[in-house]
Amino acid sequence: MGELSQRKLDIHRKFHHETESKGEEFTMNAKSLLAESLHEDARQALYLLCDHWKMTVLRHAKEEENGWYQELADDEEVRPMMLGFRRDHYLLERFITDLDAKLTEGEPLAEVMMYADGFLKLLHYHNELEEKFLAQREEENL
Ligand SMILES: [Fe+2]
Ligand SMILES: [Fe+2]
Repeated sequence: MGELSQRKLDIHRKFHHETESKGEEFTMNAKSLLAESLHEDARQALYLLCDHWKMTVLRHAKEEENGWYQELADDEEVRPMMLGFRRDHYLLERFITDLDAKLTEGEPLAEVMMYADGFLKLLHYHNELEEKFLAQREEENL
């Protein structure tokens, strides 16, 4: 996503929603495979999920940090908000690093799944806050 699109609520929100619901779908799929005791399939589904989050959310986070967020850093009033967003990104990345490691180490999948759930919740709150912030900015600029 380009720097200009990051500042546009409608484009940005659409991206959030699409990547989030795709990831939710992958998570649900892994869960139902696990519920059916199809462990190897569930493991593969979790690897797919991990890749999805890396290619979409983590990449998007880096783009924001190198783009839109840079501009927010110069504004005293919104700087603390931006630092909060960066902390969210850090935690999202931690979830994926741990999820990945636990999968590779062969930890019980029910435990790995908790990381997948945690990521999804945190992502949802983060996206919600970013969208709220963008909506406020657009309103102020009217
Ligand atoms: Fe973000
Ligand atoms: Fe975003």
